[in-house]
Amino acid sequence: MKRILICGSNGLLGQRLALIFGNETEYEVLNTSHHRTFVLDHHLFDFTQLDITNKSDVKSLVGSFRPDIIINAAAMTNVDECEMQREAAWKINVIGVENLSEIARRIGAKLIHISTDYVFDGKHGPYDENARPNPINYYGKTKLAGENVIIASGAQHAILRTIVVFGTGIGVKNNFALWVVKSLRENKKIRCVDDQISNPTYVSDLATAVKNTIERNGCGLYHICGANALSRYDFAVEIARGFNFDEMAIQRIKTPELKQPAPRPLVSGFILTKASKEIDYHPMTSAQAIEVLKRELLHLTLN
Ligand SMILES: NC(=O)c1ccc[n+]([C@@H]2O[C@H](COP(=O)([O-])OP(=O)(O)OC[C@H]3O[C@@H](n4cnc5c(N)ncnc54)[C@H](OP(=O)(O)O)[C@@H]3O)[C@@H](O)[C@H]2O)c1
Repeated sequence: MKRILICGSNGLLGQRLALIFGNETEYEVLNTSHHRTFVLDHHLFDFTQLDITNKSDVKSLVGSFRPDIIINAAAMTNVDECEMQREAAWKINVIGVENLSEIARRIGAKLIHISTDYVFDGKHGPYDENARPNPINYYGKTKLAGENVIIASGAQHAILRTIVVFGTGIGVKNNFALWVVKSLRENKKIRCVDDQISNPTYVSDLATAVKNTIERNGCGLYHICGANALSRYDFAVEIARGFNFDEMAIQRIKTPELKQPAPRPLVSGFILTKASKEIDYHPMTSAQAIEVLKRELLHLTLN
């Protein structure tokens, strides 16, 4: 039986990982996150608190659980907060990752880490794994530095870069799709940019990519995203149509009008050839994922 340690289990991806690995008999899973309690039912899942920035806690927990695989879904993910709280962003996205990669190398565990398309400048998307990173905001810089500490550590690893992850879960922070759904449901008018283009990724596709990476022994870098590229504006319109909301409530704007603290890459997106060949990754289109999101939101409401 393989032992898997999940870091960041309270997050959008972390919860999905807890659910998919928790249902498999061939894995013994220990969920961990920064907060001292787990959002999922503690009778059904093993959970303990772990702050990945605390090196001695990481060492003693990993030393006693002795995982074969460590999945790092923990990160500081709010791009504008990272821009403004640089020390905290570096601590979580770089030092935390360094702590995990050092101990992974020492005990011979494989580290599966999640990174982002924000390592690129958004001038020449879609990108494959050989494209040269050039982050234009602090979040992207920390995520690229996190990738580099893993590579330098000598730990066995796979790094999955992904894009605009969306989906639902218990107490998850707002993601773009959830914000669109909530706003339109409350008859609010929203403004969405039509000059940021990328492939939104449904969280269950990303979780499947992690699982496939383990089962097919994927190593190195993989680009993981949804099947089609579209602008945030077009994605919001697609969501409105899928949920039967009034798409006229969505106003088309350009990125500078948002006046966000962190600059955003404009033309991103990934080429999925490597992931498709090596880890059998075949994601949904955004339209298909919106249908799944609808069902999942209904299920969460009913429960
Ligand atoms: N969301 C996106 O659009 C997107 C796009 C590209 C890449 N990614 C990457 O995908 C990964 C997963 O993202 P996500 O959307 O699932 O993130 P998320 O929902 O923000 O969850 C991140 C989790 O990390 C945990 N965490 C934060 N600091 C920690 C620490 N010091 N020690 C342990 N846990 C800590 C938090 O735990 P608590 O809740 O317990 O405090 C939080 O639940 C991240 O690496 C992110 O950079 C995300």
